[in-house]
Amino acid sequence: MDKIDPLALIIFGITGNLAQIKLIPALYDMAEKKLLPENMSITGIARKKMTEAEFKNYIHYVLHLANTHHQHEIKEDVFKTLCKKLHYLPGKAEDSKLYQDLNNHLSETTQKSRKAGNRIYYLATYPELYRSIFENLQKNNLNKQNNGWVRLMIEKPIGHDFPSARKLNSLLLKYFTEDQIFRLDHYLGKETLQNILTFRFANDIFEPLINKDCIDHIQITASEDFGIGKRGGYYDKVGALKDVGQNHQLQMLAFAAMNSPTKFSNEAVTEERIKILKKLVPLPEKIVYGQYKGYTKEEDVASNSQTDTFYALKTHINNDRFKDVPVYIRAGKKLKKTVTEISIVFKNHVNRLFKGKDCGDEPNVLIYRIQPNEGIVLKILTKIPGYDTKLQPEYMQYCYRHNPHTHNVPDPYERLLIDTIRGDQTFFNDAKEIEAQWAFIDPLIAVRGKPAIYEPGSWGPKEARELIEKDGRGWLEPSMAFCRI
Ligand SMILES: NC(=O)c1ccc[n+]([C@@H]2O[C@H](COP(=O)([O-])OP(=O)(O)OC[C@H]3O[C@@H](n4cnc5c(N)ncnc54)[C@H](OP(=O)(O)O)[C@@H]3O)[C@@H](O)[C@H]2O)c1
Repeated sequence: MDKIDPLALIIFGITGNLAQIKLIPALYDMAEKKLLPENMSITGIARKKMTEAEFKNYIHYVLHLANTHHQHEIKEDVFKTLCKKLHYLPGKAEDSKLYQDLNNHLSETTQKSRKAGNRIYYLATYPELYRSIFENLQKNNLNKQNNGWVRLMIEKPIGHDFPSARKLNSLLLKYFTEDQIFRLDHYLGKETLQNILTFRFANDIFEPLINKDCIDHIQITASEDFGIGKRGGYYDKVGALKDVGQNHQLQMLAFAAMNSPTKFSNEAVTEERIKILKKLVPLPEKIVYGQYKGYTKEEDVASNSQTDTFYALKTHINNDRFKDVPVYIRAGKKLKKTVTEISIVFKNHVNRLFKGKDCGDEPNVLIYRIQPNEGIVLKILTKIPGYDTKLQPEYMQYCYRHNPHTHNVPDPYERLLIDTIRGDQTFFNDAKEIEAQWAFIDPLIAVRGKPAIYEPGSWGPKEARELIEKDGRGWLEPSMAFCRI
């Protein structure tokens, strides 16, 4: 990897959940891999009062929390290297004094390193604070690119519907230009999702099959076998469709269905993703909402809550390539398995040899497994070795040879931080993309009523099964038989 520029990273919300479970561990991993530039400063901001020493103890504590993605040892020497870059500024995001302090602090650190004033503002805090943050940054000239570049990283949710997303996008564009805004959907930083582009467009043999002539239908599943835990306050306001459907799952579909970009650049890749999102047809009569039994007893959930912890929907992509190819998408909590995958289910040839024999009617399925057992696999039929001709389904597979202890597959947050430092927006969403996602989701949210209650440990309510069975198809049982570590 090329050497990366020195910079100041300013994280609003350093004491929050996102910082704890994602950002701080990612920064540690980057320090361990020596990816953080020598003259980099990392400044955390939150209201909590802490001295610099207490802040470093806090970071140490966070790195040893069991709930981060860290499954490997924290080395004290790496922690010390990271500590040298760390600073803390307590203050309220709405308070102008914080920005005077920040201005002084950044001038001091930039002067010390005698380097350009490159800056990333990472907003790991609530969208309601954005306006105050932007106004105050502007008042203090902290969003000006006089002495280096300035970039902004923001997280979902980008709005809660199309009008609010548009409003937020215009707010962002009042203070920053599009090439400064890094709207982060961490799924785009996943190695397994990025590899779909390589698999499809670096090889020539699969692409001719990815169309309506060969594909029967597409399924996308994002299921978790656990509930909402302590996130009731957030989740109850959002629900499954907005939490993962509006963003991660639509992006998964865009990667699996987009046409080849003219080149591997941000503009070309984003353009192709947007084309798919814009051609998606919302079918409000083809969505099922569910809620797991016991959800209303969860912490910080309203006792009469109708929030969806599950949804299943049918859609299609209204372009020539995928005309009339149904796409079924489902996601939910407290389901049978934790798995995220895209399955491209192929049509059976009318004259297929071995039709009707053993499993001879099973379709070929191309599976992009995002997690767990990450890989790209093709389900095929093979002969069971022996004297008779008996068929069995098997997997041709590309699996990640990764071991969580050596963590050589970069975490999405590492990858996306590095991309932001490099100024590469290929795996970030632009304003139009977010708006296209909401344009598809809004009509589906409009029909969200009383959810169907389902048993924890099931695949959701029976209505979800009926949705696909009406079309003579069934949900695939995600297999754990491939890419086992
Ligand atoms: N958690 C996730 O996994 C996740 C994933 C994707 C997106 N997001 C998004 O990321 C954002 C943060 O989520 P979170 O889960 O980290 O929330 P959180 O745990 O409630 O953390 C919020 C952070 O903001 C700080 N904060 C709150 N009010 C402030 C104020 N007035 N001035 C300065 N700092 C303030 C809090 O610190 P003090 O209270 O000490 O001030 C805390 O550090 C949300 O928009 C969320 O939707 C979160």
